[in-house]
Amino acid sequence: MRTQVVIIGGGPSGLLLGQLLHNAGIDAVILERQTREYVLSRIRAGVLERGLVGLMEQAGVADRLKKEGYEHDGTIMAYDNRSFRIQFTDYIDKPVTVYGQTEVTRDLYDARERVGGKTLFLVEDVVIEDITTENPAVTCRVDGETLRIECDYVCGCDGFHGVSRQAIPADVRREFEKVYPFGWLGVLSDTPPVNEELVYANSERGFALCSMRNENLSRYYIQCSQEDSIDNWSDADFWDELKRRIPESYADQLVTGDAIEKSIAPLRSFVCEPMQWGKLFLCGDAAHIVPPTGAKGLNTAASDVHYLFNALRQYYIDKDSSGVESYSIKALARVWKAERFSWWMTSMLHRFPNQSDFDLRIQWAELEFLRENKSAQASLAINYVGLPY
Ligand code: APR
Ligand code: PHB
Repeated sequence: MRTQVVIIGGGPSGLLLGQLLHNAGIDAVILERQTREYVLSRIRAGVLERGLVGLMEQAGVADRLKKEGYEHDGTIMAYDNRSFRIQFTDYIDKPVTVYGQTEVTRDLYDARERVGGKTLFLVEDVVIEDITTENPAVTCRVDGETLRIECDYVCGCDGFHGVSRQAIPADVRREFEKVYPFGWLGVLSDTPPVNEELVYANSERGFALCSMRNENLSRYYIQCSQEDSIDNWSDADFWDELKRRIPESYADQLVTGDAIEKSIAPLRSFVCEPMQWGKLFLCGDAAHIVPPTGAKGLNTAASDVHYLFNALRQYYIDKDSSGVESYSIKALARVWKAERFSWWMTSMLHRFPNQSDFDLRIQWAELEFLRENKSAQASLAINYVGLPY
């Protein structure tokens, strides 16, 4: 088989890239290790930057997002039983859109099916071959048969645990990592959200976040230990702990109910440099991970897609290879800023092991400065709503 671009991974990065390429008349095959149903069962964050909404529009898949997404032009920060609001649109003329990543992925799969794009599911043993030559290929096993796909370029959109990153030789690749000494316990619940905007809370008992999917579906998180298990948390325990970590004014309003999903996620910052090697490009979680505190995971994947799509379009349509040559440099410049913001939000809002009372007062002073100071608020707003591409 031959195609122009092989995309490894049918998560949001691979699907969005695939749709943009299709619309530009560039032929791509997507290889996904799981089934579509499995990919759509994963619950992830739900805050979309304007840039990602723009890419969804450009890909022609933004109709439902426009109808069902909620535009938020501010957020609540809480600490020490107090809270304040940052109005993003005082500093940047764009809101964020609350719309679940699962829905983004569903819309992209539906669109790919509509246009008849080739997606192979349940592929195994994916191997990238001859990537530093003019004739790269990807081999894999699918339905018990071995398949070899020859191509011009390979896009590694296969997430943190994929194979693409490993195709960059170890003596070329540099990996930067920070593992945080805690996780997030998340609950999805069929209840109205406690507040119409997100509430990020620093508490002496640990971080908490109140988020939502729609007016009857809430998403809450509390910081927990890395070793913790969901078996240790009954629904009642979760609600009690959440209430202790958010200001009383919110705790009093909280509507509790059955958890329809409960999971624990570790927190990690990770970057791989470079993000390209020969004819291979890394995109999204394959190249970088952020802790979820700034809601930057999917959004940073989207900015990679933007740079990569434009580079490939320039190559195929304008016959200009300057974009493909500079992809890694361009993508990484923005990735590191998203890393910095996510690290800063995480550091300011979580309780760290061995953190002294002094350290906690410093966090509160930082939050108080943010409450009082327009420049500090502007910095948060500009980064949260999303740096330009
Ligand atoms: N072969 C084929 N597919 C693979 C392989 C492989 N060897 N390894 C992994 N995959 C698939 C996974 O099954 C998954 O569906 O690649 C996909 C990667 O998807 P994600 O992990 O979701 O990564 P990405 O598409 O970059 O999405 C960006 O934003 O909010 C964050 O982490 C969150 O997933 C989110 C990410
Ligand atoms: C979510 O809604 O799941 C969510 C929102 C904001 C974050 C992280 C997760 O920072």
